[in-house]
Amino acid sequence: MSSLANKQILLGVTGGIAAYKSADLVRRLQDAGASVQVVMTPAAQEFITPLTMQALSGHPVHTQLLDPEAEAGMGHIQLARWADLLLIAPATADFMARLSQGLGNDLLTSICLATAAPIALAPAMNQGMWRNAATQANLDILIDRKIHIFGPADGGQACGDIGPGRMLEPLQIVDMAARLFATGSLAGKKVVITAGPTREAIDPVRYISNHSSGKMGYALVQAAIEAGAQTVLISGPTQLAKPARARCIDVITAEEMYNASMAEALDCDLFIAAAAVADYRPIEVATQKMKKGDDDDITLHLIKNPDIVASVAALTPKPLTVGFAAESEKLIDYARTKLERKNLDLVVANNIAASNIGFNSDDNAVTLIDKHSSTDISQRSKQQLARELIACFAQKLAPQR
Ligand code: C5P
Repeated sequence: MSSLANKQILLGVTGGIAAYKSADLVRRLQDAGASVQVVMTPAAQEFITPLTMQALSGHPVHTQLLDPEAEAGMGHIQLARWADLLLIAPATADFMARLSQGLGNDLLTSICLATAAPIALAPAMNQGMWRNAATQANLDILIDRKIHIFGPADGGQACGDIGPGRMLEPLQIVDMAARLFATGSLAGKKVVITAGPTREAIDPVRYISNHSSGKMGYALVQAAIEAGAQTVLISGPTQLAKPARARCIDVITAEEMYNASMAEALDCDLFIAAAAVADYRPIEVATQKMKKGDDDDITLHLIKNPDIVASVAALTPKPLTVGFAAESEKLIDYARTKLERKNLDLVVANNIAASNIGFNSDDNAVTLIDKHSSTDISQRSKQQLARELIACFAQKLAPQR
């Protein structure tokens, strides 16, 4: 996985000659692992066609605010929620003016108003327009509002002028976008994360397992890496690509996951148990494939697996230990009981009764519980959620002032 792995980037294109570079930017963002959707202003479409951007991004291009069809599918609020980053490249002087005034008179400005994601602009305009006092005043407002400004570069311009106002090259923009996600909040810390299901063999061809996809655990690994942690992933069998900058230990059974976890947890600062561990395993594994007999029912004798996260929480010194609680009722009560019974520092509780979140889905909504409080984190992608959770864990690990 590379620097923008799993990031959802909404690329806004406004009307400047540098719009032709946005086509290459889509590709470069994808090369870095991001998935990209494109919003174009009417002026941008004078420079480059939506069809080009659609073909490159692999998604329909969004152009209109009041399009009933689009609003029924992915309207401006959904787009605002979908984005991990809103990147506007090129950003014209006119767009910067409208954004600084909080206008919402087209699709792109409306999304900018609605989104909770960071916004970054790569300005591109004539040097005189860039130097103009009005543009510079708008720039100050945008910087004040924590909007990230990439560039512009100095040099020769399409109109023949020389000076500041050239859009940065696509690779420079990708690099700066990637750096926005690198928080450094876990720099110098070792983080161990269990993820995915375990498999408990019955015989050489059959096993007991569950539907865990591993997505939440893998998203936490990616967020921990972005936060600068030395990250170890202990993963049951999943379909997911292994994160490039984590040390990955593949396991199959709960016992293997237990052994790997106990070895890695000894010197870790943060242990996150996101795996869906099988509670029981067959006492005996048949060495040959079990044959269907005449009996209408058979009995499998199961024995309890070790509780991994509780065993880590019993270590001295104990890392900050985080467990997950997937519950279908009495979410907070059951999660708090788990916190106490397993001696955890935090429990991430999610309601598995809701069909659009949790197990196997791309989204999740959770409540983060510690001894004294509980905090709701509303529905969002597992990547966005992972970054929020990692930020909370990092805060707990930071020395108290
Ligand atoms: O007890 P329960 O399975 O409901 O608890 C879920 C939490 O405990 C999860 O964080 C899961 O990863 C962890 N767990 C574990 N070892 C087990 C069972 C659960 O680490 N054997």
